[in-house]
Amino acid sequence: MKLLVCGGAGFIGSNFVRQRVREHGDDVIVLDKLTYAGRRENLQDLEQVELVVAGIEDADAVRGAAEGVDAVVNFAAETHVDRSIAEPDAFVQTHAVGTWVLLEAVREAGLRYVHVSTDEVYGSIEEGSFTESSPLEPSSPYSATKAGADLLVSSYFHTYGTEAVICRGSNNYGPYQYPEKLIPLMILNALHGDHLPVYGDGMQVRNWIYVEDFAAGIGHTLTHGVPGEVYNVGGPDECPNLEVVRRIIELTGGDESQIEYVTDRPGHDRRYSLSSDKVRALGWQPQVRFAEGLERTVDWYRENTAWWEPIRSGDYREYYERHYGRSLG
Ligand SMILES: NC(=O)c1ccc[n+]([C@@H]2O[C@H](COP(=O)([O-])OP(=O)(O)OC[C@H]3O[C@@H](n4cnc5c(N)ncnc54)[C@H](O)[C@@H]3O)[C@@H](O)[C@H]2O)c1
Repeated sequence: MKLLVCGGAGFIGSNFVRQRVREHGDDVIVLDKLTYAGRRENLQDLEQVELVVAGIEDADAVRGAAEGVDAVVNFAAETHVDRSIAEPDAFVQTHAVGTWVLLEAVREAGLRYVHVSTDEVYGSIEEGSFTESSPLEPSSPYSATKAGADLLVSSYFHTYGTEAVICRGSNNYGPYQYPEKLIPLMILNALHGDHLPVYGDGMQVRNWIYVEDFAAGIGHTLTHGVPGEVYNVGGPDECPNLEVVRRIIELTGGDESQIEYVTDRPGHDRRYSLSSDKVRALGWQPQVRFAEGLERTVDWYRENTAWWEPIRSGDYREYYERHYGRSLG
């Protein structure tokens, strides 16, 4: 299969591309704007993959890159909730305008389209799990613009018959994740003896999915998903953030005294939980339990210092110090 993968130089996108090339023999073109979270280094072991550096909102670049492909998979997004609270503009531009430009290109060329979305579009749930028919109640500019993009994708199926599928993932973790996100942040800070900033009481519960499982779920809906349908792709385990931090301390040899409780994120969702029965009925299921995936992830960050050192000593350091008011060691 020949694929155009938008946002394929980011965390999940690059894991997806690696899996498609190695396990499925696909021919892949990546279109990525290379924002702070998108990096050539994420694809450096995949020389056969062509990288087009452009935004999904650039209609000419998208049309050119989509020529001759069988399908488009879209990961391109601004993905950090904290940044969406501080500076929502790029979120609106990429999720609303960018998704619209992509949809126009796939409509014109009659391509299959998989749109990667998030459990955050449903908002927070105290008990039970969200299904695909749960109402959308996003609470941050990140999740609201992602929900808007999902609705636009559905409208292209209903209005133009575009062969579009939406995949809503739960919280991912694994190799190549930018260290502003909870798990890599805590791993690297723990390894450096830095403080471990925990929002509020740390009891926000997330439904963790190992990135290769999510990538496989997206691949599964690419080939087996029914056009016009939404598929939740959730992980096998739930865990509160504080417990995640404690497990990381154990795995890295850090110390509980590194934990520092900081002011909670405004509008912080308390719990996310997805029911993935629909995608499981298509034949997908997660393979990696949280304990095993976390151990693998810690090992990857320990072994790949050359990947994260330039990030930790670059702009990220400045962002971190501004956001948490603390410096990194
Ligand atoms: N990380 C998670 O836990 C998670 C969970 C569920 C869903 N998702 C979704 O998965 C997708 C990928 O997330 P991620 O965690 O890999 O994020 P990421 O921030 O690591 O990667 C996003 C990629 O998109 C690129 N990008 C940003 N704006 C672009 C634009 N306008 N045009 C082209 N490329 C652009 C970036 O350069 C980067 O390579 C997103 O759509 C996100 O909403 C993420």
